[in-house]
Amino acid sequence: MERSFPKGFLWGAAGSAHQTEGNNVASDLWALENRPGTFFADRSGDACDSYHRWPEDLDIVRELGLNSYRFSLEWARIEPAEGRFSNAALAHYRRVIEGCLERGLTPVVTLHHFTSPLWFQQGGGWLSGEAVGRFRRYVRAVLPILGGVEWVCTINEPNLLAMMANLMRDKERTEGVAGAMPPPDQRTADALAAAHLAAREELAGLRSGWTIASQNFEAAEGAVAERDAWARPREDQFLEVAKDDDFVGVQAYTRVIIGKDGALPVPDEARRTLTGWEFHPAALGDAVRYTAARLPGVPILVTENGIATARDAERVEYTRGALAGLHEAMAEGADVRGYLHWSLLDNYEWGSYEPTFGLVSVDRETFQRTLKPSARWLGEIARSGRLD
Ligand code: BGC
Repeated sequence: MERSFPKGFLWGAAGSAHQTEGNNVASDLWALENRPGTFFADRSGDACDSYHRWPEDLDIVRELGLNSYRFSLEWARIEPAEGRFSNAALAHYRRVIEGCLERGLTPVVTLHHFTSPLWFQQGGGWLSGEAVGRFRRYVRAVLPILGGVEWVCTINEPNLLAMMANLMRDKERTEGVAGAMPPPDQRTADALAAAHLAAREELAGLRSGWTIASQNFEAAEGAVAERDAWARPREDQFLEVAKDDDFVGVQAYTRVIIGKDGALPVPDEARRTLTGWEFHPAALGDAVRYTAARLPGVPILVTENGIATARDAERVEYTRGALAGLHEAMAEGADVRGYLHWSLLDNYEWGSYEPTFGLVSVDRETFQRTLKPSARWLGEIARSGRLD
């Protein structure tokens, strides 16, 4: 069966600043990674050195036949001390944006992808009464470099951020899927929503939205009410915030089954990925359906989907299934504008370099990039607009 995607569909790959650039020294996460006795297995360190090697990354995206690249601006570089903005960092990101435009790539720019400046964290983070104003001031500072950018993601996975706020407070390890996590810290969730809406005001005229960790909560037998109650704080409330947005980002990897007493562990017999998540390509189509049903009239951009695996053929298998599900959801009426694979590079996976999500491997010593067959496979789909 052959499936065609619409003309003008965005086909791309994604990454984020902290995971790819390296030496994000003014950020909150750098401080955590480098403190004595840190629970992180790996430090981000030089990451993929994309702060210097971004032209090579963009060349790869273009040569593959993809037409879009998602990356994030790093607030900690742009405002390393409160109220002190780095013109050099702003100029850097302007060059990356221009680098995309020169290559005919549509940039999808995220303003906040998990990390914040250390001063922001130390000043109370999202729970400070100043948080929304601080974020708005940052958004104002980056506005002048966004010329030519059509797609802006304000905050990446606010639902995960708000759940992490609770998790970090409990000083637990950050293992498992987002879905099995504690409910979000509601004050953090409210602050993120307010920050998002403030950012959208500043970004008027650009297409802006936020990107949700779409967790595919499925009800175990007889647990529909429990599933609904589980999903409401962890996902639905964040979708509701997006009801007037220009688009919403769907980021789907797997599913989580909810029983009478909450999230069930991935069954022993289930096939798993390197992150321990269930191998479940249908996650994407289901997440798109779920989102479309809750946000009628809001265009969807798949801002992340992918798999951590050491076997590249498994990446193709997973992605083929995910794209088939996406196509089906679109045929049923979901208004989806593009598909951005996570990730372009084998980048820093928040504490470890072990789970490799990349279409492209990166030598950890030399930073040399090597295309995996999945990269070319996805590039061919992008060129033809067809999934065979
Ligand atoms: C995040 C990425 C992350 C990916 C895989 C998403 O939660 O936005 O930064 O690497 O999932 O875990």
